[in-house]
Amino acid sequence: MVNRSPASPHWSPEQVGDLSDQVALITGGNSGIGLETARVLARHGAHVLLAGRRPDTLDHAVAELRADTPGARLDTLVVDLGSLASIAEASAPLAAGRTIDLLINNAGVMNIPDRRTTADGFELTVGTNHLGHFALTAELMPALRRARAARVVTVSAQAATWRSGQLDDLLSEQRYRAMHAYAKSKRANIVFTQELARRLSGMSMTAVAVHPGVAMTNLQRHSAGLLSRAVIAMTRRTLMGSPAGAAWPSLYAATIPDITSGGFFGPAGRDQTSGTPKPVKLPRDMGSLAEGAWLWAESERLTGIRFEPHPTCRADDRRLNPGKTTDRS
Ligand SMILES: NC(=O)c1ccc[n+]([C@@H]2O[C@H](COP(=O)([O-])OP(=O)(O)OC[C@H]3O[C@@H](n4cnc5c(N)ncnc54)[C@H](OP(=O)(O)O)[C@@H]3O)[C@@H](O)[C@H]2O)c1
Repeated sequence: MVNRSPASPHWSPEQVGDLSDQVALITGGNSGIGLETARVLARHGAHVLLAGRRPDTLDHAVAELRADTPGARLDTLVVDLGSLASIAEASAPLAAGRTIDLLINNAGVMNIPDRRTTADGFELTVGTNHLGHFALTAELMPALRRARAARVVTVSAQAATWRSGQLDDLLSEQRYRAMHAYAKSKRANIVFTQELARRLSGMSMTAVAVHPGVAMTNLQRHSAGLLSRAVIAMTRRTLMGSPAGAAWPSLYAATIPDITSGGFFGPAGRDQTSGTPKPVKLPRDMGSLAEGAWLWAESERLTGIRFEPHPTCRADDRRLNPGKTTDRS
């Protein structure tokens, strides 16, 4: 899908307008880029639901944000993206009657040293970063549909464009390499977004993906040695290597009034490590109809969740998937 949203050389979070009519749910809202994204959304009046797996860290984040913005409208949602049961349980009350205007699929893990699995047996990185968010978005669809024009923002990474991120052997069952699993998960974030955008076609809801550039956060906790030294050096060289700076693309994609559904946005600065957000060009081989349809079907098969965002659109609709789906169910 082509990005048509204009580049915005002067955009900054100060331009975020009044969000008091918005309810935003952000995964990984207790830490790093998610916390900084939540901070700006709350400061501008949004009702923010901080989603995370540990109540203590969520409560700590709420206290920090309230100190920053007294009167901020904040709630917490305990959800483990590595457990389909947890996702279903946490989503149910929201799906039953609440409205969500903005879902920011931000949480993530990276560089897990050994192949570990989620509660459902999926490789942990893809299981958390992609399948967890696939399931969460599906479960929250009723709440998103209640909004006038909901938006789903999914946080990917530049690693999505690495050759090692090809989606075959999605769960690294044949061979596990930590950063390849991360690249797969981040490619899946973009392909998921593009396919979701196709399936939302004709609805007021939009889906966009972003990458934050580079920032020192807890994400690098497993990256001992060379990688972490390289990241630290790069971060020090950049103007906005902070989590606050890295939140700009998410905030931009979440709040600019008109955005191209299916678009991908990242920092415009040198090497896209930091700077004002802009549309980012994707490699040619990414996001074909066939890849999108395959990932969707595979994610449905693995999670057991039939995810049909458009009321009139069936998952095997030939308009979305011109005869190339591998239906493994
Ligand atoms: N930092 C960078 O340079 C960079 C670059 C490219 C892309 N990104 C992306 O940016 C996003 C945010 O990362 P960050 O840098 O802010 O890292 P971070 O500070 O480690 O935040 C990651 C968040 O994800 C949460 N999380 C992890 N596993 C979870 C699970 N099973 N269930 C629920 N929540 C879970 C973490 O919760 P806990 O606190 O409980 O662990 C934490 O809140 C990620 O998607 C990452 O891939 C970051």
